Amino acid sequence: MMSPSLKHGLYAASLSLSFGLGSCSTPADAPGVEYAPEMYESIPYEALKQTSFNKINAFGINQRTPPIGTVPRGKLNYYDHIPKDSVRIAERVLHNPYPYTKANIEEGQVLYTRICQHCHGEKGDGQGPVGLKFKGVPNYSSGAYKAMNDGHIFHVIEWGRNRMMPHGSQVNPEERWKIAMYVHVLQINNDPADLPKVVKVNGPTPITNAESGDASQQTDGNNQNPEGQAQAHTGSETPGQGNTKAHNGSM
Ligand code: HEC
Repeated sequence: MMSPSLKHGLYAASLSLSFGLGSCSTPADAPGVEYAPEMYESIPYEALKQTSFNKINAFGINQRTPPIGTVPRGKLNYYDHIPKDSVRIAERVLHNPYPYTKANIEEGQVLYTRICQHCHGEKGDGQGPVGLKFKGVPNYSSGAYKAMNDGHIFHVIEWGRNRMMPHGSQVNPEERWKIAMYVHVLQINNDPADLPKVVKVNGPTPITNAESGDASQQTDGNNQNPEGQAQAHTGSETPGQGNTKAHNGSM
């Protein structure tokens, strides 16, 4: 006659054995018991993940697919389909569609300052603070670099070259063309003051303004004035008066 505790012990042992055997038969890539699976398998539909079983949207998908033949805003010519190593082709076939106005080149200068200057230097001589450590950053005004045309610079910005990483995801085509314009300023003599020498078209830029929308033109003067006046009024005409009176009168 088995003692009850032994009986229970054997029962427990056989149970764990059968569990053990059971787990051996599951596929090798199964993770086993998952703790809080909602953490891994999202219950809500993930906005940036495509599915085929969304019960709310048409076609069961999370993300609507764009109509065939359309281009997202700002992504026109985002990729020019010239391979990374074909800068010579880019030089020949890519042409800057934006006019060489002062405004466009100055925009290029701002972008250059933000995205390129830390390596290429304020003067384009490769002496930026990162350039000094990173090594191998060329001087735009020396040798063959002096002759790089727009298509060449555009292509290098998009794809990078040798030690330089690609910057295509940071700047859209319009921005790349404008940066290329500004690189021409530095190619002359490593001097940002040469900017006026690169200007070829005088006056405002119709293409750019129409596309990006000039913020100053959209500002409604009627909405701006009252606030400005109110601040000027409180600021200048009665400075600290309320406070002074209260103190004088009651204390
Ligand atoms: C992290 C540092 C770094 C940044 C940021 C950087 N570059 Fe460069 N760039 C380099 C280096 C290094 C080279 C030399 C590449 C080589 O030949 O190995 C180079 C080369 C170039 C060349 C010459 C390519 C050729 O044909 O030999 C151009 C043009 C250029 N960069 C433009 C830019 C512009 C425009 C930007 C900003 C959008 C930029 N770079 C940002 C490091 C940088």
